[in-house]
Amino acid sequence: MSGGDAPTTPPLASGPGGPDALRPLLATVLDALATGAEERGGPLPAGGPETVTARVADALGDALPDTGDPDALHTLVRTLAAGAADPADPLCAAHLHCPPLAVATAADLAASALNPSLDSWDQAPAASALEAAVARTLARTAGLADALVTTGGTESNQLALLLAREAHGTDLRLVCGTAAHHSLPRAAWLLGLPDPVLIPTPRGTLDPAALDETLTALPGPVLVAATAGTTDTGLIDPLPEIAGLCTAHGARLHIDAAYGAGLLFSDRHRDKLAGLEAAHTVTLDLHKLGWQPVAAGLLAVARPGELTTLHQHTDYLNADDDTEAGLPDLLGRSLRTTRRPDILKIAVTLRTLGRSGLGALADQVCARAREFAALIREHPGFELYAPPVISTVLFRPAEADDTAVAAVRRRLLHEGRAVLGRARPDGRLWLKVTVLNPHTRPDDLAHLLKLAEGSTPA
Ligand SMILES: Cc1ncc(COP(=O)(O)O)c(C=O)c1O
Repeated sequence: MSGGDAPTTPPLASGPGGPDALRPLLATVLDALATGAEERGGPLPAGGPETVTARVADALGDALPDTGDPDALHTLVRTLAAGAADPADPLCAAHLHCPPLAVATAADLAASALNPSLDSWDQAPAASALEAAVARTLARTAGLADALVTTGGTESNQLALLLAREAHGTDLRLVCGTAAHHSLPRAAWLLGLPDPVLIPTPRGTLDPAALDETLTALPGPVLVAATAGTTDTGLIDPLPEIAGLCTAHGARLHIDAAYGAGLLFSDRHRDKLAGLEAAHTVTLDLHKLGWQPVAAGLLAVARPGELTTLHQHTDYLNADDDTEAGLPDLLGRSLRTTRRPDILKIAVTLRTLGRSGLGALADQVCARAREFAALIREHPGFELYAPPVISTVLFRPAEADDTAVAAVRRRLLHEGRAVLGRARPDGRLWLKVTVLNPHTRPDDLAHLLKLAEGSTPA
């Protein structure tokens, strides 16, 4: 803009001019992503928090300048990429933090451009129909009837506890293993439920005998939460036995399959989830073993009638006469109001890859994890925690104490050479690798082990 000219109104992403306005901006974004990744040169930036914070401050300058900067898109995307922990790098393998598929990310761009909001049909006509159909398909794949779309495992677990409380009352007690995700006891706290009963899991999974004893001793309504893919070790609770005990004791069953649900796509590994279909509710999360950009959570429910408890009437979104006239009432499908169509990227991924395509990705990461475990087992300098059940591998330098194990992780982080996780499943500290990148090769994992070896204090 030159002096005296009226400011131009920035173009919109949707509408007839949207695609043409986006095209050059996308070219800018893609260039900035490539430049930033090149500057980073590895799985994460070297130098630790101080270096990264200084670089961000430098690139950002004044976050709300009086007049705008047309280069801000390139500058900030490049800075974000240069300072990213990139899950597409095979040496970035700490968390349940997956590299998103390009096709899913491209679909997510369309969701941002069109900006449908799933709180009323008049803001999302096609998106609401797509969500209903795809969520139901995913629920049926898990052996349940319907599913709500959530922001991830935490929101799904909270909704599961809410539905259980509404079905059984505020005396409902959550029973789960100590290896269960922290969002479960936190949801009990949030919902004002009695303190949960946490059963010790010294072997990493919920022991049916210990659960039986607990359920026998507990009066009142109980919600048992089992886990299919624990956060720390990737183990799967004995679901059929737990389901049988819940039936015998009249307890409700929730299964947190935020990690493990991705195995449903795999012919080779699906059997590990036998018992899932016996749950009242199941947490699924395709931004873990599903290669989606965040957010991509679901809560599958066995009894869709229970969802009426979420019903909300608000005249501007679901007036009775509109509903009677046939406009779908969407408010009861979430506790949120404005809601992104996260289902679009999921739908595009399911249709593009098909079940077998997704299953092949799951098989691949599970196979890589087994190979990594074998490398560790054969290496005299390392100890393996256990053979992987999904794609999590815990290991530690054989002679190191916990302080040295923690130092290995932080040194690799500081040098920007690898992102390893940590877990303390048995009181000792272990390094954790969660293989979620289907492009990871055996050589990458051998390199990762060498890096850990080279960073172990003598
Ligand atoms: C088993 C399990 N459940 C729930 C969650 C929470 O998921 P989110 O981070 O998507 O809220 C996690 C996160 O790692 C998890 O491992």
